[in-house]
Amino acid sequence: MPGLTAEWRRIHASRRARLLAGAGADAIVVLPAAPERVRSRDTLHPYRQDSDFLYLTGFLEPESVLVLVPGRKHGEAILFCRERDPAREGWDGPRLGPERAGEALAVDDAYPIADIDDILPGLLEGRSRVYYPLGLDAGFDLKLIGWVNRLRGRAGGNAPQEFLQLGHLLDEQRLFKSEAEIRLLQQAVDITIAAHRAAMATVRPGQHEYTLQAEIEREFRRNGAQPAYASIVGAGSNGCILHYGANASRIRKGDLVLVDAGAEYHGYAADVSRTFPANGRFSKEQRALHDLVCAAQQAALAQAQPGQPYAAMHTAAVATLSEGLLSLGLLKGRLEDVLANEACTRFYPHKTGHWLGLDVHDVGEYRIDGASRLLEPGMVFTVEPGLYIPPDAADVPAKWRGIGIRIEDDVLVTRTGHRVLSAALERSADEVEALMAQARQASA
Ligand code: GLY
Ligand code: MN
Ligand code: MN
Repeated sequence: MPGLTAEWRRIHASRRARLLAGAGADAIVVLPAAPERVRSRDTLHPYRQDSDFLYLTGFLEPESVLVLVPGRKHGEAILFCRERDPAREGWDGPRLGPERAGEALAVDDAYPIADIDDILPGLLEGRSRVYYPLGLDAGFDLKLIGWVNRLRGRAGGNAPQEFLQLGHLLDEQRLFKSEAEIRLLQQAVDITIAAHRAAMATVRPGQHEYTLQAEIEREFRRNGAQPAYASIVGAGSNGCILHYGANASRIRKGDLVLVDAGAEYHGYAADVSRTFPANGRFSKEQRALHDLVCAAQQAALAQAQPGQPYAAMHTAAVATLSEGLLSLGLLKGRLEDVLANEACTRFYPHKTGHWLGLDVHDVGEYRIDGASRLLEPGMVFTVEPGLYIPPDAADVPAKWRGIGIRIEDDVLVTRTGHRVLSAALERSADEVEALMAQARQASA
């Protein structure tokens, strides 16, 4: 995160203050950094900080724990982190160290992580509730229970009685994006737009899907970003596999290519999909289905207004897809029955979107008291209808089989409606063909 600027130090501190106001005076918050994970024997996966930890500290190092203690005289925000170690830093890179953490992260106190066993039980003492992300890191769960039990066993020890899921408090806070967060999300989206354009401009039949993946991720990296999730590049019927990730097939001349790829920039994710023809021209059937998915997205976007139920976007997309599939002959029967039987789930098995933020599938409730929650300004989500006609659908005319299409954009709810953060990226069949023709001309 551009975390260590004064602005971001203030932002993290004010997020912690809001969290504490919600936690109550007798609570304590304990939040460990994401654990490192082994990829293969003694090599690790690239490290990604836990999103809650990032949200509250901007601190990128593993082996750290944030503890928030409301009303503590010597300061409410305490960080445990690794000590400086010149020998280790020669292998793994610089460490902040507790001496520098106070100023760099605007926390009140910082201690070596090696001392947490001695210090944390004292901080837990006298607190009635612990807010903690239960179940994310089984090793840390056991440690925390051990500290509480040690306190309980101590003569006169006053141990917390309740464990609460930290997400109950923090998810709602994270759901509403501030101006500073929207700026980062927009940067992630802008980098993503450049990457999708690079894919459309450079795709050629005969290439492998991974060649396009490389073009996309090249744009991410040269802009200081990285993939927010495993990039999907599916040519032909691979586009019908929702979580396709092999990206290893050869792209054929008549294929559509479905690209679902988003950049993560300073922790914030974009999530964008486009579907384009490998040879630069949609076939009649490809265009008909692509137009229908575009229309479904427009219908969903018309519901993206403050005060509308979140679920209205999916309902609108399904209604448009169902009508269109009936008129193309891909579904049969009366519209009421098709809607009542949810017949279009055969070709559209997923939902129309999800919250977007530090996590690509971001935190936040979709329903409140059993009903779809109402949209409010500051919420950010994807709108991503699609159609996937299985290649082996024997009852479907052959001309439709194996076509997979998704169109996915990132949307912010504003006071008066919404803003499509990814609006600039070519979307309709005409726009996509024009971009591809122009790129081919320029490179001829
Ligand atoms: N890329 C994952 C999704 O679209 O939800
Ligand atoms: Mn996606
Ligand atoms: Mn998505």
